[in-house]
Amino acid sequence: MTTSTQKEDVNATFGGLAKCLQHIYASLDVVAIRCALELRIPDVINNHDGPVTLAQIAHGINSSSLNVDGLSRLMSFLVHRQIFDRVHQPQSEEPLYTLNPCSKWLVQDPKTTNIAPYVMMVTNPSLRSLLANLSKCISEGGTTAMKAFGVDFWSYLSVNPRVNDIFNEGMACGTRITMDALMSNYKFDGLKGTLVDVGGGIGAAINEIVTKYPHLNGINFDLPQVISTAPTYKGVTHVGGDMFKAIPPADSIFMKSVLHDWSDNDCVRILKKCRDSISGRKGKMVIVDTILHRGEDDALEYTRVAHDLMMFSLFENGKERTEVEWKKILNDAGFYRYNIIQIPAIESIIEVYSD
Ligand SMILES: C[S@@+](CC[C@H](N)C(=O)[O-])C[C@H]1O[C@@H](n2cnc3c(N)ncnc32)[C@H](O)[C@@H]1O
Repeated sequence: MTTSTQKEDVNATFGGLAKCLQHIYASLDVVAIRCALELRIPDVINNHDGPVTLAQIAHGINSSSLNVDGLSRLMSFLVHRQIFDRVHQPQSEEPLYTLNPCSKWLVQDPKTTNIAPYVMMVTNPSLRSLLANLSKCISEGGTTAMKAFGVDFWSYLSVNPRVNDIFNEGMACGTRITMDALMSNYKFDGLKGTLVDVGGGIGAAINEIVTKYPHLNGINFDLPQVISTAPTYKGVTHVGGDMFKAIPPADSIFMKSVLHDWSDNDCVRILKKCRDSISGRKGKMVIVDTILHRGEDDALEYTRVAHDLMMFSLFENGKERTEVEWKKILNDAGFYRYNIIQIPAIESIIEVYSD
């Protein structure tokens, strides 16, 4: 006869196994999301006024050799993972599918911000293959990029234009999402003159700032290989260069998601170059970056911790930082006055004063 303690042990064992299997198959989530994007399923559902049948989705995909059984099973998986919703109407056996708050982010409507380029970056086969070396980075040191490609991450991108574009588009996508939160919670109207975005990628952030605050002259500063692919924006001058050597002179600095790629020592070197750029102008720096553990029950904390592991794997000493760690690098670079502003985003704002 089985005792209640034995039953509890069996339940705990199988509960643990179920949890473990969920984690093991979690990588299929983003693969299925990419598949839905490639088939433009979120757009097909969005193009209808209400819930849609599988046949309507199939019709919207517009393929003469569509595997409807495969589509049905993909939709079942995505509904199970709460990426789409399935509703049942009275008097009908046929399930209907709708977007939910998660899949609304997958609709590729140019008028709204969507997360599709980010999915393409995360699922890019070359970028994804890097993580296969994670355990080696822990057991031997080094970065996944160095182990997989024999060069650092930025050098790899500089000679792989397609992956470079996918990475830059993915970053710009993440930036647009953060910028929506930033622009509605933070005002740049106290700044004047020139604002340089250090490591600004293809210029998505500085373009938004200058569009809303046209009294500012924007400079988008990044590596030459990134600048060469950046679109033209009104009010923004693109400048290629190396932030470890010199940052163009400006009245204020904007820097988003850059310092987490670098060691404390390198961050201090970059921050000192920022200081040189605004020296004598009493300007301020607006740093937009992750502050780890800003709230454990914050829904985005999982993403922050995941980014920390990514930064570890990609860059020599790359890391997300706690507030205490931010204070240290700012102080080491000679900045003592700063102000943290939380916004509804992965990142926070760290306003840093140069005096
Ligand atoms: C994580 S991305 C952030 C891009 C952008 N700020 C954003 O949030 O979308 C870091 C950026 O730093 C740039 N970068 C790396 N090394 C650099 C250097 N030595 N000088 C200037 N920019 C650099 C990269 O090219 C990349 O665009």
